[in-house]
Amino acid sequence: MIDLAFSILAADFTHLADEIATAERGGGTVCHVDVMDGHFVPNITFGPPVVAAVRRCTSLPLDVHLMIEDPDRYIEDFAKAGADWLIVHQEVCRHLHRTLSSIREHGMQPAVVINPATPVETIIEVLPLVHHVLVMTVNPGFGGQSFIPRCVNKVKHLASLRNEMGLNFRIEVDGGIGHDTVEEVVRAGADLLVAGSAIYAGPGNPAQTENNAVDFLR
Ligand code: DX5
Ligand code: ZN
Repeated sequence: MIDLAFSILAADFTHLADEIATAERGGGTVCHVDVMDGHFVPNITFGPPVVAAVRRCTSLPLDVHLMIEDPDRYIEDFAKAGADWLIVHQEVCRHLHRTLSSIREHGMQPAVVINPATPVETIIEVLPLVHHVLVMTVNPGFGGQSFIPRCVNKVKHLASLRNEMGLNFRIEVDGGIGHDTVEEVVRAGADLLVAGSAIYAGPGNPAQTENNAVDFLR
């Protein structure tokens, strides 16, 4: 099964509940929330209070992508806010095994994400612990960037490791995913597709947003 995780980063924040409902009506199956701290990435977005508000708008799984330094400090806050899946960057976790275990202990599904410059080898030891691995297909921090084709090799590598190791983690991709790139990543083995700018049509255009979601997996 392939899931479409719509990223609300590209939504109209003045109508967030409607924007979530529209993407859901169009066939979105996961709500992806990008948390940025202005340190790990240059941009700042939102934190637990907004996750809690999103929680009240949808019963879809909330896939919370932490682009923050020292994520251990906030695990409890995101659990309380209602995150279902919590994704941490390999690049900021000194004790990745401990962090992922702690996410599970707080009742969420743990996931790990790697930047375009980070090799798959850095996360092999934690693959048995994760619900999914997110392969960034752009450098994190902003929506609307161009897909980096080389990252597809990492999706293939993870798919073969999953097989060899007898595991069942899912493989997610994030960044520049749209009509031109979706086929390639799915063929490589991705089954959780994050899309922001390919879904959201901009303020005042819910019909187009819904159509974008409907069209996405055609
Ligand atoms: C980027 C975020 C993405 C972003 C994707 O750092 O992690 O989730 O919303 O946006 P698009 O789909 O526009 O590349
Ligand atoms: Zn993201």
